[in-house]
Amino acid sequence: MELIKAQKGTQDILPGQSENWQVVEDVMRSEAALHGFGEIRTPVFEDTRLFQRSVGETTDVVQKEMYTFQDKGGRSITLRPEGTAGVVRALLEHALYNNGLPVKLHYFTTCYRYENTQAGRLREFHQFGVEMFGSNSPSADAEVIGLAKSVFDRLGIKNLRLEINSIGCPTCRAEFHKALKAYFTQYKDQLCETCQGRLERNPMRILDCKSPICSKIAEGAPKILDYLCDDCKAHFEAVQKYLTAVGTEFTVNPTIVRGLDYYTNTVFEFISGDLGAQSTLCGGGRYNGLVEEMGGQPMPGLGFAMGIERLMMVMDKQNIEMPAPDRCEIFIASLGEAAHLEAFKLADSLRKYSIIAACDENDRGLKAQMKYADKIGAKYSMVLGDDEIASQKAVLKNMKTGEKKTIDLSKDFVEQYVCLSTEQEDLAF
Ligand code: HAM
Repeated sequence: MELIKAQKGTQDILPGQSENWQVVEDVMRSEAALHGFGEIRTPVFEDTRLFQRSVGETTDVVQKEMYTFQDKGGRSITLRPEGTAGVVRALLEHALYNNGLPVKLHYFTTCYRYENTQAGRLREFHQFGVEMFGSNSPSADAEVIGLAKSVFDRLGIKNLRLEINSIGCPTCRAEFHKALKAYFTQYKDQLCETCQGRLERNPMRILDCKSPICSKIAEGAPKILDYLCDDCKAHFEAVQKYLTAVGTEFTVNPTIVRGLDYYTNTVFEFISGDLGAQSTLCGGGRYNGLVEEMGGQPMPGLGFAMGIERLMMVMDKQNIEMPAPDRCEIFIASLGEAAHLEAFKLADSLRKYSIIAACDENDRGLKAQMKYADKIGAKYSMVLGDDEIASQKAVLKNMKTGEKKTIDLSKDFVEQYVCLSTEQEDLAF
């Protein structure tokens, strides 16, 4: 029968890899906690309108990439392409803003985008993200950027650059849109079909187009920084002051506009020199109009999300050492039913003291059991058979040195195991 394979653009994360994911996620969780960002978990699917309204009708994500379907009740459902929209919905649905401002949230999510797949660009991928609501202070921008940076620093990731920009507020953006429209109209016939449509509705999206011709034309386009109003200019300058105050290096890149419509003012990306085409490890910014657009009271917001697959790729490339995963401490082999029952009980008692223990689950011969113990990297082994059960004596063997010690099965097993194994480890130093 034909084997069914994982879908294009999806990946299994297997033992051997998942331990590294846990290390990375622990660092993220710990940085989120240090900065006071509580965890939120939102559903994997939402009402399609949520993403149309927030991410924006003219974005690539909404126009081309969403996994949208009708459920059996006739509703239009979409698998979340990103995390921010669901978090804003939850903020409003549960009035989280009543618990004091700013509201600070972090999340781990899977996201779904029907993309042309390549290394670092998947159809299901994982994000760690944070969102902060209710502060318009430039120090909040610097705190959020600083949180992402701390994650990268603690993981030992090098060769990263932080690029920031401001895309202003609706007032200054209206002027910018006019200038962009005038610029791109000269090249209308050369733009891709999608961008020709964007020219009328949202010319800023052309700056984000992946087509080589459109991006070439976009190089000469007007720059938003030349159109910022005084307030936006002052905010952007203050963000830079806060970043500098804590020694965070950055460059201002006026071409960063981000691919989602909800951003206002500060936008930023952490870009890796080790990732090739999909080099953005983390992206984010302010979205001061989004909460209101989703039906709430006006409330500033900001955040970021980092792609965990891309982060793992960079760590791999940079040969960043990960702690060795915990391995089996002791494998208790058994021959015969009485011995198997005893082995099962002893393994259970060890686990209650957080000692990783295993016994045979396949009714195998002794040789096959020991081969398995070797495969799973057990540090110690012990064999139980009729003789051991009758004499209540068994031998604990160090799998690496071959050293053997006798254990009295009539006495506390865990205590003897801990004493003997600690003694041997002490000798090894
Ligand atoms: P985004 O730039 O679309 O932003 O995605 C954030 C990160 O997710 C990217 O920098 C990248 O590392 C990763 N990523 C995106 N698409 C893919 C893909 N197809 N395959 C693998 N990784 C990918 C957002 O999603 C915003 N919600 C971020 C945000 C939060 N802004 C404010 N708050």
